[in-house]
Amino acid sequence: MWDELDALGLEPETVEGGADVAVPWSDLAHVTASLRCAARVYVRVARADVRDAQELRRLLASLPWALWPLPQAVTVRWAVRKATSARAGWLAHETERILALRPSGDHAPLTLLMRVTGPEVEVSVDAAGRPMHQRGWRTEQGEAPLRETVAAAMLHAVGYDGTQALWDPMCGSGTLAIEAATWRQLAQWRPWDVDAWTLPPRFVPYEMPQFVRGRIVAGDLDPEVLAVAQRNAERAGVATAIDFRPAEVASQLRDGFRPSCVVVNPPWGKRLGGRNEARRLLQRLSAVLLRDAAGARVAVLSPEPQAVRELPITDGKSRQVDCGGASLYLISGTIAARAPGRTR
Ligand SMILES: C[S@@+](CC[C@H](N)C(=O)[O-])C[C@H]1O[C@@H](n2cnc3c(N)ncnc32)[C@H](O)[C@@H]1O
Repeated sequence: MWDELDALGLEPETVEGGADVAVPWSDLAHVTASLRCAARVYVRVARADVRDAQELRRLLASLPWALWPLPQAVTVRWAVRKATSARAGWLAHETERILALRPSGDHAPLTLLMRVTGPEVEVSVDAAGRPMHQRGWRTEQGEAPLRETVAAAMLHAVGYDGTQALWDPMCGSGTLAIEAATWRQLAQWRPWDVDAWTLPPRFVPYEMPQFVRGRIVAGDLDPEVLAVAQRNAERAGVATAIDFRPAEVASQLRDGFRPSCVVVNPPWGKRLGGRNEARRLLQRLSAVLLRDAAGARVAVLSPEPQAVRELPITDGKSRQVDCGGASLYLISGTIAARAPGRTR
């Protein structure tokens, strides 16, 4: 996420659990839509010491309500530090009472985060209104779907910028390929195409222009899950940008397509029948990568850190990523021209 903030020309300051940046209101929608790895985006809107109901009313009245079309409901999340549970309970009760007096409309619900630190209450609004990985299109999924924010981190790990030829040979419900395709759209957005308070934005479907060079190929040996991926891509408005191939990894690139970026989220654990099976699949994948994608950048998600040594990659790096409960290793590098340890 820090790289994304840097790329946007912002100067992030590290704070507990995230990064703090200053963004003009007019840029907020674009910035939020560009942060593909962020779990949540909160916009700080008010802060004051609150000792009684009057001070709380004043704080809540000072929020920029006029900016937001009348929401169906206002949901409040709390983060409390250095305050008794009695104070936290009182604040929650009073806030609910005050907000219930506000008129409601039929626009998207508004989510506020109230951070209590001792006497102080800071109010932020959740720019997306929900976790950022919920992009809105994945209403169907296969087994072990990837969080979209982790998919974004994998795309960053291979240096994907929306123009290169990309391959996901084990695409499942299509998360990586669809994320990649929507990046291309993002590059062509104008900030006023999106509404800051209903982010993540609904992507405006459009025909991919001919000048877009890099193709996206996504394959899976399970035709049923591939059909799910296709429907997800349609919902995201990017179906025409992805070439879906129902085939085993070794026969997906028979047409000579040569990717410059490869992203893979192989099955693992019980789904695969254990470690040996997972190892065999990794070896098979390695052989195919050497044959079909030598020289490409690759990112593989694995529960085993040592997979970094088993893949045919040079300059391999491994880092832990939180995949929503499970901690996995994101391994990245460049696919070698030939298997390690062999000479021509
Ligand atoms: C962990 S899932 C991928 C999940 C996906 N990233 C998502 O977000 O839905 C792994 C996928 O690999 C596919 N797969 C397993 N072995 C394969 C092989 N040898 N060739 C192609 N696909 C394979 C499975 O059918 C499964 O859909």
